[in-house]
Amino acid sequence: MPQSDAERWNTRYQNDARYHRDPGPREFLLSCEPYLPTRGLALDAATGLGGNAGYLSKRGLQVIGVDISMVALRRARMRYPALWLVQADLCHFPLPANRFDLIINFYYLERSVWRDFPRALRPGGVLVVETLTREMRRIQPDIPEEYLLAPGELRELFSGLKVLHYREEWIEGSGSHPRPVASLLAVKV
Ligand SMILES: C[S@@+](CC[C@H](N)C(=O)[O-])C[C@H]1O[C@@H](n2cnc3c(N)ncnc32)[C@H](O)[C@@H]1O
Repeated sequence: MPQSDAERWNTRYQNDARYHRDPGPREFLLSCEPYLPTRGLALDAATGLGGNAGYLSKRGLQVIGVDISMVALRRARMRYPALWLVQADLCHFPLPANRFDLIINFYYLERSVWRDFPRALRPGGVLVVETLTREMRRIQPDIPEEYLLAPGELRELFSGLKVLHYREEWIEGSGSHPRPVASLLAVKV
């Protein structure tokens, strides 16, 4: 029987040493700091170990972190007890309309989930997204294309929002080599 996504991610979080340390917030999230609200409700889609959500929570937001992996969420809960953590498959997690002051999504690409982000933001709400692009296949040719962004795709998907910052470039990360990403900071006007 094929492994479910939850099993696959649980195994990864249990066995891969990279996931045993606190990742802290992503660089791109830190660079968005002047635009991030410090009050209200935030959603961290695919929160993982909670490094980004924990950072937002310490800045004053109430953060809901949703992830499919119970192993990751247990670690997030121990490190960041103020988070509201939900174990769920985001593909079956309906988002309320006009509810969030901030939505962040790092390294999780599910276009059907992303489609609902603009509606779920309050007017004035902020969206921060970063994930890998198809350039990644140069260094890891076996990654299915559906998990990677096409050139210009991220900006196009959120063209209904006011884009404050957009980039597609190779960045240094915590891993052993640079990674090609698209990053977006946008606001619902
Ligand atoms: C690469 S990690 C990114 C975690 C975190 N956002 C970060 O920046 O480190 C991808 C995360 O997506 C979660 N995930 C995968 N499929 C999911 C789904 N269908 N619903 C919710 N979470 C999912 C995994 O459990 C994992 O924690």
